[in-house]
Amino acid sequence: MPPPSLPFASSAAGQGEGPKSQSFGGIEGTEMTQLTITNIKRPGSDQPESITVEHGVIKGWNLPHEGEVIDGQGGTLAPALTELHAHLREPGQTEKEDLASGLAAAAAGGYGTVVSMPNTSPVVDDPAIVRALIEKAEGLGFARLKPAAALTKGQKGEQLAELAFLKDAGAAMFTDDGRTNENARVLRLGLEYAHSLGMVISVHAEDATLRADGVINEGPVSEALGLPGNPAAAEAARVARDIEIVAQTGARLHVQHLSTARALDLVREAKKRGLPVTCEVCPHHLTLTDEALRSFDAIYKVAPPLRTQADAQHLLAGLLDGTVDCLATDHAPHTRAEKERDLLDAPFGIAYIELAFPLMWTRFGEQLGLEKLLDLMTQAPARVMGWPEPTLEAGTPADLVVLDLQTQRTVNPAEFKSKARFSPWAGEMLRGWPTLTVVNGRVAYRRE
Ligand code: DOR
Ligand code: ZN
Repeated sequence: MPPPSLPFASSAAGQGEGPKSQSFGGIEGTEMTQLTITNIKRPGSDQPESITVEHGVIKGWNLPHEGEVIDGQGGTLAPALTELHAHLREPGQTEKEDLASGLAAAAAGGYGTVVSMPNTSPVVDDPAIVRALIEKAEGLGFARLKPAAALTKGQKGEQLAELAFLKDAGAAMFTDDGRTNENARVLRLGLEYAHSLGMVISVHAEDATLRADGVINEGPVSEALGLPGNPAAAEAARVARDIEIVAQTGARLHVQHLSTARALDLVREAKKRGLPVTCEVCPHHLTLTDEALRSFDAIYKVAPPLRTQADAQHLLAGLLDGTVDCLATDHAPHTRAEKERDLLDAPFGIAYIELAFPLMWTRFGEQLGLEKLLDLMTQAPARVMGWPEPTLEAGTPADLVVLDLQTQRTVNPAEFKSKARFSPWAGEMLRGWPTLTVVNGRVAYRRE
């Protein structure tokens, strides 16, 4: 099928501000230029060093400086972060976000690679849309885009999408995220099909009939506020069902945004059984609880919902003991007007790809340690996907981030590159901000 007039935003979308390195005469392939970042430290080292990148790959350490030179100002250099779960809203919902704003936000958050979710309008269930997304993102020069495609046509959960063609077009994974997979047989067939293609299926694991019209976690807070609750059992029941399908088929399954202690225990048991199940946890489920909903502010409305402190602590323990495979943000931008509606009517989602690392480093840096945190946000997501693990070695892709681990800065949503310029963490002091992100050897973000 030809890529017809897809409903994409023009590339002038976002704030129209391309990264600085794009101004090299606007030539495609500016990764041919050489770039040296001086005065940086490797994680765990105090030794200032320099790294040189050329032709989009790391050339080496402490070489004579040629080409563009950027002072890393004593920051810590790491491979750029990997995001497995972001809603970038193209095509069709560009009032919320678009590729330019979302991928610029990702680069500002230190991410080099982003997997976008397919619950757009239309749904990403057509190879032509996958190709168009990849092509458009390449021209932007921010984070790399690896679009996820829908598992089922229209994400309706009835008929499998053309998975082989979607894979050939460049789809990174299959998921009906945003919706749940109610038909177990369809999921089973999808898992078997995807497995034969060597592809991962990710699931938004909630039993929709049990969740019903719940808008926040079911418990004392939902009872006190008189709001319909979404019980922990909705997630646990669905994770239990899906694990049995994995046991039956032997196919790979990734559970998205796990939010409850019970569901985490089910994943832990499944791993003990040797089943090929992985899971991600989101920083918002680690740092916020349903107590925040007492404000009646829909900024905290998200699916699955914010749970209890006990759940959050259990998830953190899961990060520490390795049950949780990786972190992902579920960056889910909506317009301010949508999120200003009341709790019953506002859409689900929190958008914070720009501050995920600072949030995690500030809150959990001591418990997790830098090495573990970076692994959870960079190499671990790559392992989940079966991609090569990002490294700082010569000859590997020049996708890099410089992190200022010390300086505290206030979260100011007005400065966000995302279109969702409001945040549950507005006004908080965080440290660990990215100062420079390089993708494919080019500057994708540099702090002013
Ligand atoms: O909070 C959420 N927002 N959860 C989802 O599953 C979908 C997402 C969205 O698309 O806004
Ligand atoms: Zn989801």
